[in-house]
Amino acid sequence: MRVMVVSAIGRESSTCYILAQRIANICTGLGVEVDFATPTQVGVPVNDGNVAWDLPEVTAWRDRIEKTHAHLWVSPEYHSAMTGGFKNLFDYLDKAPLQGDVVGLFALAGGAMAALNTLNGMSVMARSLGAWVAPDYCALNSNDVKAGLDERADARVARLCETVIDTADRIQSPGAGLLDDLPLE
Ligand SMILES: Cc1cc2nc3c(=O)[nH]c(=O)nc-3n(C[C@H](O)[C@H](O)[C@H](O)COP(=O)(O)O)c2cc1C
Repeated sequence: MRVMVVSAIGRESSTCYILAQRIANICTGLGVEVDFATPTQVGVPVNDGNVAWDLPEVTAWRDRIEKTHAHLWVSPEYHSAMTGGFKNLFDYLDKAPLQGDVVGLFALAGGAMAALNTLNGMSVMARSLGAWVAPDYCALNSNDVKAGLDERADARVARLCETVIDTADRIQSPGAGLLDDLPLE
């Protein structure tokens, strides 16, 4: 089982990156292989419609997704949505690489309201790419992450990681039959 953790922010001091690192550590503890990605590290250019899809960094990014079975995405809320840099990564994919994969969603808000628009936006994108989205989302406040997650919040994060890995394992196990003949649009 290979899991990709994506931090929408590459700055190591950001709460998004800190939370994504915590998620990666939880996953490693669960015995899965973890691939950690940020937009800067993936390095694909801004997709404004002028970019060749066979650029080496684009092909490498698609190959990484192909090899992955479960995805844990972390984004701060930027003007009520996921960051542009995060969305840009997925504007290089057609449906095939994420088809049948499972996605767990985490979002951080700076304000008093939970980052629900960001979570819903990421969910719509994941489903549009053919992935299954875990029904429970994890919304956290940046200040709480900065202060250090309390035991309850940390357990919520861990539970979502476990759910996504367990669901991916069951959906993709031979004989599950759930992925047979899925139509690719
Ligand atoms: C451009 C920008 C837009 C933001 N928009 C929102 C927003 O709409 N809602 C919100 O709760 N927080 C918003 N924030 C705060 C971020 O979600 C986040 O909590 C904050 O940037 C702390 O991130 P850091 O840990 O990376 O410093 C915004 C931040 C930036 C930089």
